Parts: sequence; structure tokens; C-alpha cells
Amino acid sequence: MKIAMIGTGYVGLVSGACFADFGHQVTCVDKDEAKIDALRRGEIPIFEPGLDALVASNVKAGRLDFATELTTAVGEADAVFIAVGTPSRRGDGHADLSYVHAAAREIAGALKGFTVVVTKSTVPVGTGDEVELLIREANPSADVVVASNPEFLREGAAIRDFKFPDRIVVGTDDERGRKVLGEIYRPLSLNAAPLMYTARRTAELIKYAANAFLATKITFINEIADLAEKVGADVQEVARGIGMDNRIGPKFLHAGPGFGGSCFPKDTRALVKIALDHDVPLRIVEAVLAVNDNRKRAMARKVSHALGGHIRGKTVAVLGLTFKPDTDDMREAPSIPLVTGLLDMGAKVRAFDPVGMEQARAELPDITYCDDAYACVEGADALVIVTEWVQFRALDLGRLKAAMKQPVVIDLRNIYRPEQMAAHGFVYESVGRGTS
Ligand code: UDX
Repeated sequence: MKIAMIGTGYVGLVSGACFADFGHQVTCVDKDEAKIDALRRGEIPIFEPGLDALVASNVKAGRLDFATELTTAVGEADAVFIAVGTPSRRGDGHADLSYVHAAAREIAGALKGFTVVVTKSTVPVGTGDEVELLIREANPSADVVVASNPEFLREGAAIRDFKFPDRIVVGTDDERGRKVLGEIYRPLSLNAAPLMYTARRTAELIKYAANAFLATKITFINEIADLAEKVGADVQEVARGIGMDNRIGPKFLHAGPGFGGSCFPKDTRALVKIALDHDVPLRIVEAVLAVNDNRKRAMARKVSHALGGHIRGKTVAVLGLTFKPDTDDMREAPSIPLVTGLLDMGAKVRAFDPVGMEQARAELPDITYCDDAYACVEGADALVIVTEWVQFRALDLGRLKAAMKQPVVIDLRNIYRPEQMAAHGFVYESVGRGTS
């Protein structure tokens, strides 16, 4: 199959490289010339484990190339994927669809022969209808089917998620469209990944509902963690205990500083807006957003509390800045309200992140960036673990303690055991472990 991938952001680049790896002929198109030049030189604009090697091997095999102009790629394609950004619109939280609309108009002019146009970007329900209308207005004779095929990729695990998905959702009622997408994803049937065909609007809603449900699951366990602290219970065991019930499942029950990232906050906000527009307010999802925002802001107070409420003039070391490990992405990271809150309370902040420091500097210019974890805690009155990078899971505790001014650790990801920290003489706070 020949595929044109419009947009070389996170989703477009990962999907394009994976499709090429399946054996399809893929052209990734982006208007940003500098980005395309860099990709042609083999430079990957985002940090995603394994992506550089995957792109390089498929370029070498002649299955993957890059273009700044879509005419040729779209003209030759069996399927054109729209994977451009849908940021939150300033002011109202709705998804900004201007890039999607612009892409649809441009694609319309370049279509030749039967083509399936697929929205992969996360878009409000009904966007497929709009894309189809725009294409038919611009090119009434086009032989086109517009489908929805949402992605469920996690940053840091995107290639694995693409190649071993729990399911693939294909939203179109058109048989020819289903056949082309079925053929594109056929290699995944080897991994027994179920292909689910639905109507287009259903597919669009599945994506939002999945993200909102996962965000709800995290927020639920975060509130249970707060209660566990007060009543003397251990939230990790509570999560294990409820997760063994097949109806609940064990995943996405890790209590922490609140969810961040490029998807959950933006998509839950957009879903709340869509629902209000249809006069069906989603009260649970609204509450999830409010609780999560409060939680992220509360983390600075948790640190202050661990220091007995005396934080002015103290030095706080922060390990991990990105919203999760294995990414350089700082979007809506819990570290941002945490560090800002600490600075507002008069603390000095030193920080280290394995890959996210360059991105972090733009968000958090007024802190000291350090070369590694041990340099970061030098002279610190408290250490806060914000992101659970693997390299923070087995720190030399003796060395850590010797470097710190006061042995206070606030572990917002529960990566250490309370007994172990106590044995090393630390004052240790974690999340939802009221038994410690
Ligand atoms: C998410 C969805 O998982 C993915 O399917 C969708 O396509 C895009 O959004 P991503 O944002 O990359 O992926 O990361 P994810 O691993 O889902 O984590 C999101 C946030 O939730 C992070 O801040 C993470 O730390 C937090 N989280 C996750 C928890 O606090 N506890 C958990 O148990 C799981």
C-alpha cells in the first residue's frame, strides 16, 4: 500500500515509520522545511526510544521518505493520514482544528483515483464529517472515503504500542474504506490485534472516552491515596487488591502527583467542551480535571509540610521534570506547578532530568540545572522525586544522604520503600502510604 502521512509530529512520525516497517511505501509530509531537512539527514526531532533506528532502517530500505509538499505523495497514495496537531484553543479549551481543516483542503486538490483519507489526530466528534465536506466542496469529483482511525500511543512506548496494540479502531461504514485500512493493518493480525470496525463518529468518541476513562482511573486512585494517608492504609496494596478484580484491572492505578502530558489534560478538556455543546455535561470528567489541577498545585504544599512548613530560603532538589519517563516532553508536567509553587514560597530549586532539561529551561528558567542526581542534591534541605526515570530507582542512598544538608525525601512516585528509607536515616514521605 502507498501511504501519505500529513504531519511529522509525534503521532505522524511514529505511525509513518511503523507503517513503513510493515512493508508499506510511506511519504511523511510536513510544511516545516527545517524539520524535513533534519529528518532527511537522519535527525529525529523528538525523543522516543527506538524511533531513530526505525526511521533509519526504513529510509535505507527505500520504504520511507520525506517531503515538504503533499501533491505527489497524495496523488499516488491509497490512504492519506491526517496527523497534524490539534492543540487546545486559547481561551475556551476546544480543540483547535485549523491545521486539520487546512490539511483537508490541500489534500482535496491533490487526490487522484480512489483514496481513503484518515484522521489520526484526536478530533472532536463530527470532524470526519467536516473533513469530508471540505474535500467534496474543494474537489466534487474526488473518489474518496473519509475514515477515523484514532491512535492510542503512549510516549516512551509508542513503537511497542503501535506494533502490539490492544485493538485498532477503524471508523467508517464504507466497505472500500474498510478494505484498504484492513489491508494496511493486516501485518498486525499476526500479533492477534483485533481490528474493530465502527461508524466514524463512534471511532472519534472511542478515543476521547478511552483517555477520559484512564484519566479518571488515575484520579480515582490519587484521591484514594489521600484517604489512605489519613486512615493508615497503603494505596499500593489497595490498588493491587482492587486491580486483581478483572472488572477493574491492575493498570493505571499508580498514585502520584497527578497526570500531565500532551493528551490526557487536553483531551479531557476538549471532551468536557464537546459534551457541554451537546447539553450533556460530563460531571465525572469535569471533576477529574478539577481534582487533577488541584492536586498538581498541592504538591508544593506537600513538600513544604515535609519541611515542617519552613521552606523560605531552603534548597529543594527535584529529580525528574518531564511529565513521565522516557520522553523529553514537558507539556502539563506536574513538575511545573510544583517548582513554581516552591519558588513562590521562597525556596531555591535545583533540578536534574535525564533528557528533558533543555525543554524544561523554557518553562522553568529560574532554577539551577545540575548534571546528575548526586550533584542535584548537593546541600539540599529536601529531595523531591517527581518523575520515575529508571536511573532514579536505585540511587546510592548513602551517597545521597551524605550530599544533602537534611535527609528529607518526598517520593511522589513511590519508587522507594519506607522501611528502606528509614533504615538509611531519611525522613521519608511518599504518596498514599499511611502505614509508613
Ligand atoms: C496517553 C494514553 O495512554 C495514550 O493511549 C494516548 O494515545 C495518549 O495519552 P501518554 O500521555 O503518552 O499516553 O502517557 P501515559 O503513560 O498514559 O501517562 C499519562 C500521565 O498519567 C503521566 O503524567 C503519568 O505519570 C500519569 N499516570 C499514568 C499516573 O499518574 N498513574 C498511572 O497509573 C498511569
